[in-house]
Amino acid sequence: EEMATMESLIGLVNRIQRACTALGDYGGDDSAFSSLWDALPSVAVVGGQRRLRSSGKSSVLESIVGRDFLPRGSGIVTRRPLVLQLYKIEDGQEYAEFSHLPRRKFTDFSMVRKEIQDETDRVTERPNRFLLFQSILVYTLHMVEGQPESIVQEIENMVRSYIEKPNCIILAISPANQDIATSDAIKLAREVDPTVYCAMDQAHNTRLAVLEGRAYRLQHPWVGIVNRSQADIIKNVDMVVARRKEREYFATSPDYGHLASKMGSEYLAKLLSRHLESFIRARIPSITSLINKNIDELESEMDHLGRPIGGDAGAQLYTILELCRAFDRIFKEHLDGGRPGGDR
Ligand code: GDP
Ligand code: NA
Ligand code: MG
Repeated sequence: EEMATMESLIGLVNRIQRACTALGDYGGDDSAFSSLWDALPSVAVVGGQRRLRSSGKSSVLESIVGRDFLPRGSGIVTRRPLVLQLYKIEDGQEYAEFSHLPRRKFTDFSMVRKEIQDETDRVTERPNRFLLFQSILVYTLHMVEGQPESIVQEIENMVRSYIEKPNCIILAISPANQDIATSDAIKLAREVDPTVYCAMDQAHNTRLAVLEGRAYRLQHPWVGIVNRSQADIIKNVDMVVARRKEREYFATSPDYGHLASKMGSEYLAKLLSRHLESFIRARIPSITSLINKNIDELESEMDHLGRPIGGDAGAQLYTILELCRAFDRIFKEHLDGGRPGGDR
């Protein structure tokens, strides 16, 4: 029952975020629902490498989701925030939906990739350079070689403004074959989490020390990941095979074998969802009061607009209000010990 409640809460979080983004509200500084956004968890995947371009962000995201759905190729810049939500239904079937294509269910994930690409090509306005995905929003930062320093700075500032928020879980990606001390991911993460400590010299010793939690430790442990190489991608190695190879790698590695149970994409996905769950659980009381405040504000806004409200904005406001009420109801039930319906 506890689980069911958590799932319905996460489902509601998804719907509220989707309703907000449909209104053009992505939770930025100008957000009309900023307090609500701040109370909801988000995940930021950071790992830009100025000179080397790629750090494996897209690969890690795909691994966590367990699907190939992101466009391939370097230099892809997402030109506006895209909201993609992934659903698992009871029989294990999965489908995806974009906020800009409501009611169209994507069951073929190669079509998801195509749609991201097409939408990226379609929209040519000033690039937003990040991608929002899943209910839990993920901002990925794509640096493109040859960008002027001012743009790089602008991107960094934008990313910083997201990751500084207390609701943001930072998934910092640092390639294992590069010096972690100079990693952009570490640089950004360290600004918001000053607990990073210790440096070591030899590349291998550093990797081992990082994975054993003795170096560059942040609030949470580093998890070693083996993604598909470019050669694997060319050979069309699929996700299932890639995950099996990753498990085998850690299980048989003379260097990291002793850490095998705490390595790999599946472990990372588990850690992340556990973390999101405890995040939401800890915030239930404060979200409840925020929701109540939002209900009041939305109601007065609705009154101000007058009913019935015409147009998409009005309909969306109404949707948000309804979702907030549903949220409030479920929270109260949760606080009552999960009694369905409670006594109201
Ligand atoms: P992004 O630009 O940060 O999103 O990075 P991508 O996930 O697109 O990866 C960029 C390139 O690095 C691709 O050619 C990947 O195949 C390769 N790559 C990513 N992760 C790994 C890894 O764990 N091992 C190897 N050998 N290559 C990887
Ligand atoms: Na990158
Ligand atoms: Mg990428």
